[in-house]
Amino acid sequence: MNDIDWTSLSFGYIKTDYNIRCHYSDGKWGDIEVSSSEYLNVHIAATGLHYGQEAFEGLKAYRGKDGKIRLFRWEENARRLMNSAEGVLMAKVPEELFKEAVFKAVKLNEKFVPPYGSGASLYIRPLLFGDGAMVGVNPAREFTFAVFVTPVGSYFKGGIKPVNMLISRKYDRAAPMGTGKYKVGGNYAASLKAIIEARDEGYANIVFLDAKEKKYIDECGPANFFGIKGNTYITPESDSILPSITNKSLIEIAGSLGMKTERRPVPLEELNEFDEAGACGTAAVISPIGKIIDPDTNKIYKFGKEGEPGTVQMKLYNILVGIQTGDEPDTFGWVTILD
Ligand code: PLP
Ligand code: COI
Repeated sequence: MNDIDWTSLSFGYIKTDYNIRCHYSDGKWGDIEVSSSEYLNVHIAATGLHYGQEAFEGLKAYRGKDGKIRLFRWEENARRLMNSAEGVLMAKVPEELFKEAVFKAVKLNEKFVPPYGSGASLYIRPLLFGDGAMVGVNPAREFTFAVFVTPVGSYFKGGIKPVNMLISRKYDRAAPMGTGKYKVGGNYAASLKAIIEARDEGYANIVFLDAKEKKYIDECGPANFFGIKGNTYITPESDSILPSITNKSLIEIAGSLGMKTERRPVPLEELNEFDEAGACGTAAVISPIGKIIDPDTNKIYKFGKEGEPGTVQMKLYNILVGIQTGDEPDTFGWVTILD
């Protein structure tokens, strides 16, 4: 553990000391268990393995200048996990159980929370899946809820340096009436080919379009899309994207700075009008987008000065990260300090 170089961490897995598990059977959740094994013992016919009956969450803990550990908007993640559970017919994890498991996982692995100023954080990954045996396509009656943590650096290489993204025309991530609004594993499986092909061609990620008409922007791989036009923050409204907690927070921050904010369908050609564009999410925080390439029309949408993040999104980024680490006052009440 002493040999972790906090400043050069990537967004990867590093073993920590403990994780948390909790099992649901006979209509109720059992006691929280602490484990130091990295493996789960899963039934060979578990619905989570066969039918993708699973959902996960991602949130972060940050160490402040005062040495204290802060969790960002964990209640929102708890609510979203309940929503995903409803979406694929799983038992819901009550907010209190979610809190206990997440806080315990962080506390027990306190030494893995990266130091203030390193730019790194502790990523928390709650996971819920059907582990009851079923062969016909049916929801399980038993579930596992588990939480592991791992220290991470930037999701996109270069951190706050602009990245280039490719518009996906060959693949859809989620159908209009499908599961795109839930954080379920199947959406990520569906996005893999598109993402890896884009990466192989040198792009940081994919911009998915609405699956029905291919006219509107949906989201950017594992992050929401936003654009800045003058003093307005614009982000897509769509039933097939994940409701991002980071995006929701940026909208509130932008509003508090006197910016106009719009959540509405964003037509592809509106990219021509944006001064800045970015991808936002827990893992990505804000990743400025330099160019978006449309392979079918050969159109290249460019944003801002080459190689530099836009000034508006930098301002939003600094306030968001400031709140998360405790450098900025928590005026919105988003932060919980771990005792
Ligand atoms: N969109 C997708 C598909 C994601 O996986 C994520 C990550 O959770 C986001 C958007 C961003 O959401 P949040 O800001 O809540 O992390
Ligand atoms: C997150 O931002 O927390 C995510 O879940 C993205 C992830 C799938 C890497």
